[in-house]
Amino acid sequence: MHGFFDEEDVRLFDAGGYDLIVFVGDLAGLRLSSTLRVAGLIAQLTTPTLVVPGNHDAPNAVQLLGEVLHSRALIRLADRNTEGRADAIAAALGSPLAGYSLHDVGLGMQIVAGRPHSMGGDALSFAPFLKRRFGVESLEASADRLCRLVDESTAPNLLFVAHNGPLGLGDRRDDIWGCDFRAEEGDFGDRDLAVAVDYARAQGRAVVAVVAGHMHSKVRGGGERTARVERDGTLYLNAARVPRIWNDPDGRPVRHHLAVSWDGATVRAEEMRW
Ligand SMILES: [Fe+2]
Ligand SMILES: [Fe+2]
Repeated sequence: MHGFFDEEDVRLFDAGGYDLIVFVGDLAGLRLSSTLRVAGLIAQLTTPTLVVPGNHDAPNAVQLLGEVLHSRALIRLADRNTEGRADAIAAALGSPLAGYSLHDVGLGMQIVAGRPHSMGGDALSFAPFLKRRFGVESLEASADRLCRLVDESTAPNLLFVAHNGPLGLGDRRDDIWGCDFRAEEGDFGDRDLAVAVDYARAQGRAVVAVVAGHMHSKVRGGGERTARVERDGTLYLNAARVPRIWNDPDGRPVRHHLAVSWDGATVRAEEMRW
């Protein structure tokens, strides 16, 4: 959302008749105060919510820079009180952050929340923090953790939510989780999430949908990113329409979200513009 969520959204979403509102992270930008402001608004919703934190939720600007530069030293040096910031966000939400967690939705479905704070690419983002908080030290360990959640789940149908989507859906800049900030492009999806989705299928589960964000809709160099892919009976959705709120030609705000419905047998998704 990167800050594009306000009091009017609280009113509209509560009036929207949803059973659950899932936020796939990056509530705001680099300022914790902005993140806490959005978290406080989410807390005002009477509709149940689920927030999977993104790379902008808890890590600071220097940690983000360390990840971009692949500098372990910088990532470690800047990793001060990341727990405190994550806890402050959860406190503002009034509920724990999702991530490596399982959530019941009924009608034979459970939600598996993927790795929190993912920044995409073939790296375990914010590794020292993930090790301390979740005991996860590598992408392999993260995949394993997600597969154990699949083992723990009891519903025949699973829906995965995460900040960044899975590897394997295309390596061009405008693909659903393709990289648009490197000349060589590439697949920027998460390997651990892809492993968990494959594992769930191998266990005979129906992976109904995978919903994530992170890779923004506007592609660097021009064009729009693919936001929806159907493959192997799974609906993949990238919700990161940035900015989430914009003005129509008459200057009136238009608000984006995805409406996902599940009737126990069929999943449907629709882009909503309020
Ligand atoms: Fe992100
Ligand atoms: Fe983002």
